Amino acid sequence: MTEKIKVPYNYLPFEFSNTKDIFKAWKKLILSTDFTLGKFMENFEKQFSKYLGVKYCIGTNNGTDALILSLKSLGIKNGDEVITVTNTFYATVGAIVSCGARPIFIDCDSRYQIDIDQIEKKISNKTKAIIPVHWGGASPNMFKIVKIAKKYNIHVVEDACMGIGAKIKNKKPGTFGIVNAFSMHPLKSLNVMGDGGMVVTNNYKLYNWMKKYRNHGMINRDNIEFYGENFRLQPLQAVVASNQLKKLDQVINKRNINAKYFDSLLSSLENNVSVPPRPKGYIETFALYMVLVKDRNKLLKYLSNLNIEAKIHYPKPLHLQSASLKYGYKKNDFPIAEYQAKHLITLPIHQFISKKQINYMFECIKKFYQ
Ligand SMILES: Cc1ncc(COP(=O)(O)O)c(C=O)c1O
Repeated sequence: MTEKIKVPYNYLPFEFSNTKDIFKAWKKLILSTDFTLGKFMENFEKQFSKYLGVKYCIGTNNGTDALILSLKSLGIKNGDEVITVTNTFYATVGAIVSCGARPIFIDCDSRYQIDIDQIEKKISNKTKAIIPVHWGGASPNMFKIVKIAKKYNIHVVEDACMGIGAKIKNKKPGTFGIVNAFSMHPLKSLNVMGDGGMVVTNNYKLYNWMKKYRNHGMINRDNIEFYGENFRLQPLQAVVASNQLKKLDQVINKRNINAKYFDSLLSSLENNVSVPPRPKGYIETFALYMVLVKDRNKLLKYLSNLNIEAKIHYPKPLHLQSASLKYGYKKNDFPIAEYQAKHLITLPIHQFISKKQINYMFECIKKFYQ
């Protein structure tokens, strides 16, 4: 085996090694003292709606708030049901629960996305919305999901927290649902220096309500229309986001080049490693580059000893979390997600990973199975 090479999962030290442009823009913001809402945040909101091709964007504290704001704007409440996939991040379901609604889980498919064929069976007269998740930065077939939702007259709210910069047949995540949520957490494709998020919609009525709800329900300084919350995006982060947005397409492009190369290498280990299908017309953000592997936990440890930082997203699907006990789910309810939770590994292929590092990861994995 060749000498050990470090393959870091965390790209933030590289990402923010040159902060000249951000400091310059921060200086303008600081001198303006526009620290709450204001033009720096509005600039970013405009830039992001233009990037996505939607009418309205509302900056929020984070992706979790963006999901809560989206669901609340649709009046989702106690007694309602919202369908989503069991292998997602806690926040997708946390948002449903925080609105008082009941999460209805669905299994996933071979691309680790919501299994669309199971959606119709789960629709009841209490179903108000489906939240498809762009899990890992890949996307389910949103065209099919929208069609099902229309048939049953229910809303689609995209959890596009990992999906910024992806495409499904030339249409971007966040342009399918009635109101959709994004995250700019440091490990997302468009990342800020802490927390940040957005909600997007083409519906003026929802936009108008969300804009007020994000800011305490205020109409002006002395009057509120209803009681809302403080979900405002920090202008300091909006400045970072504007800067990062300029580089986004380049970042996605590099990750796709890396992923394609790694896919081609790993495909030769098909007895032990399974690369998911990559259907034509789908561009992924590769927020997570995931493959199914044999002896996952042993491989993870082996790679860690060789300086390769791999991760698991996640070892326990949400229907098996103790937080979900009261909904009555049990083991084997969603066999695909449960299998994937035991076998998925996330490997670093971000924009700062070189071909040499990918070759090294491949050689190490190959050796592990020999
Ligand atoms: C699928 C998904 N939904 C929601 C969130 C929540 O976003 P945030 O961490 O910005 O609140 C995340 C990210 O953490 C996520 O990956």
